[in-house]
Order: sequence, then C-alpha cells, then structure tokens
Amino acid sequence: MNTSELGLPMAVPTQDLPARVRIHEVGARDGLQNEKDAVPTEVKAEFIRRLADAGLTTIEATSFVHPKWVPQLADAEQLYPQVADLPVALPVLVPNERGLERALALGARHVAVFASATESFAKANLNRTVDESLAMFEPVVRRAKDAGSVVRGYVSMCFGDPWEGPVPVHQVVRVCKALRDLGCDELSLGDTIGVATPGHVQALLAELNEEGVPTSALGVHFHDTYGQALSNTLAALQHGVTTVDASAGGLGGCPYAKSATGNLATEDLVWMLQGLGIDTGVDLGQLTATSVWMAGQLGRPSPSRTVNALGKTAQSHQE
Ligand code: HMG
Ligand code: MG
Repeated sequence: MNTSELGLPMAVPTQDLPARVRIHEVGARDGLQNEKDAVPTEVKAEFIRRLADAGLTTIEATSFVHPKWVPQLADAEQLYPQVADLPVALPVLVPNERGLERALALGARHVAVFASATESFAKANLNRTVDESLAMFEPVVRRAKDAGSVVRGYVSMCFGDPWEGPVPVHQVVRVCKALRDLGCDELSLGDTIGVATPGHVQALLAELNEEGVPTSALGVHFHDTYGQALSNTLAALQHGVTTVDASAGGLGGCPYAKSATGNLATEDLVWMLQGLGIDTGVDLGQLTATSVWMAGQLGRPSPSRTVNALGKTAQSHQE
C-alpha cells in the first residue's frame, strides 16, 4: 500500500487555524501500556521505526515506571537502546527520580512527568495525593532540566474523572500552574476518559491563558471514548493549540482508569488536518500501513475509522 493508491481528503484551508501541527505520537506508550498480552520488544521497536519512517517527529517510546505497575512497559531498558538512534524525539514517562535515573542512563533527553487534576486518580495512578505527586516531580523536573532535557507535564482527568465526575476548571488550572512553576516546558491536557466536549475544551484553554499559561505551552491529549476527540481537537486548534497527542491506529487506554479507551487515532487526526490544509509532515499511507501491520501483530483490527476506510480502499484497488 502506498499513498498513491489511497484516498486523501481534498485540502480546503480554513482561516484562523495554525499552518502546522506537531503530532505527539503516543501509540507505543499510551497505546501499548494496557495490552493484555505481552508485545515483544522487537515488535515495539519496529512499530516505532515505522512511525518515524511515516514522518512522525515526536514518538513517545515507553515509560520508566515501576514494572509491577505497568508490566507491558517493563522492557523499557531493552527497548529504548533499539530506537535511540532514530532522528526523532523519543519522550519517555518518568514518575520519580528512580525513573528519571533509568531514562537518563540510556541517554533519553525528552521526559514527561504525569500529574492528575483529581485526588482519586493521583492515588490510583501514582499512590500519592495530588500535592504529594507534585512534590515527587519537583526534583525530577529540576534534575531533568539540569541534564538538558525537555520536560513535558501531563495532567490527567482534566475534564472528568470516573470516581469524582466532572472536574472543575480551576482545579485543573491549579495543577497546570504548579507544573509550570516546577519548570515543565510543555503541558499536555489529558481527557483520560474521553468525556470532554468542545466548549469545555475552549473554556479550560481560555482560563489557562487568563492565569498566565500561554497557548504555545499547551498540548491536548484526547481519548475517544465518546467519539468527541476530533471535535475537541478542532476546538483546540481554533484556540491556537499546535501540539496534538494521538495514537497510531487508535490504540490505547489507561490501566489505572478502567473507563479509558483508545486515544484519538493519528490517522483520523491526519485526515482532518490534511483536509484543513494543515501541514503535519506525516505520510498518511505509510502511517495507515503501519497500523494495519500493528493490528496484525496484536491480532485484532484497529478501531480507527480512517485506518479501516483506507485499508478497504487499498484492498479494492488490489482486486
Ligand atoms: P509506589 O509503590 O508508591 O513506589 O509507586 P515507592 O516510591 O514506594 O517505591 C516502591 C518500590 O518501587 C521501591 O523498590 C522503588 O525502588 C521501586 P524497593 O525499594 O521496595 O525494592 N520503584 C521503581 N522501580 C523502577 N522504576 C521506577 C520506580 N519507582 C519506584 N520508576 C510509582 C509509585 C510512581 C512508582 C507507581 O505508582 C508507578 O509506577 N505508577 C505508574 C503508573 C502509570 O504508568 N500509569 C500510566 C501512565 S499515566 C497515563 O496513561 C495518562 C496519560 O496518558 C494522560 C491521560 O490520558 O490522562 C499520560
Ligand atoms: Mg492517555
């Protein structure tokens, strides 16, 4: 399958949207952390190489968390060196100093801490209160910056929480500001369980700006549980956001939030962005072929609408 055999949307640029979007690809981390069966390290490495070949420039590779908490990513030490020479940024998740030391020892220079806007998820995901987790991140961010790393700060449950329900905007803003004060270069606003809607997204972004967090420091991270991820992304683009997280083939979920399903599929995102005339640098055909290959490795079809539509188009062209 190559691009020339695939359909592409007609590009109809729309005013007041960014000219370029950086996709922060999370398939190998957020996508695979929840898999029931072990995915061989070599398959993960091949997945990451294919994503880089498809033009993705930021590919979250793995997490240096406790292996008992996320067994699927327990091979971080084996995986990272297999992809370290790729000419792309390879962020990794580090919850604490132990995780940071493991990552730095392998030469990682893009790391991410991950906070929660709610107490329930902070406890479930990090075994800490929100403030205890921020205290845990303080030396991580400081030492990472001293080592010359770029540091991302995730905030989970920005819109709703499976235990606490809707999450007030000011609660999210407090955690975002705390992460900025620690020195995080970029924040990623996580809709962990996919309940956000476009107005809510714009209200949070506006409040963050109001409180001194510039849009240029913000990325969005939507899970697609209720089919809102693309609408929410468009709302964020309209606000000026240019960093969007997505997962190839729509893989994903969070082991510590049972109602979380897959992330926004990178192919669905690229289809929309190409249609809006927004540059991503991604070859949609190669990316789709990668997700079809990965679906074969995992033994189940991709949930991405675009992967399925383009896969069928490619098949009918072969017949
Ligand atoms: P804890 O049990 O409180 O750990 O877990 P601890 O600090 O008490 O340490 C206990 C033992 O674990 C010690 O060993 C440590 O050395 C070891 P012992 O002395 O007993 O032999 N340990 C480690 N070993 C290896 N690597 C480490 C590490 N840290 C401690 N990094 C901890 C606290 C943070 C470690 C645990 O809660 C954890 O690993 N959590 C990770 C959960 C996770 O990865 N969740 C998924 C990612 S978040 C997400 O998906 C959301 C996101 O996509 C955005 C969105 O959608 O919202 C980002
Ligand atoms: Mg996530």
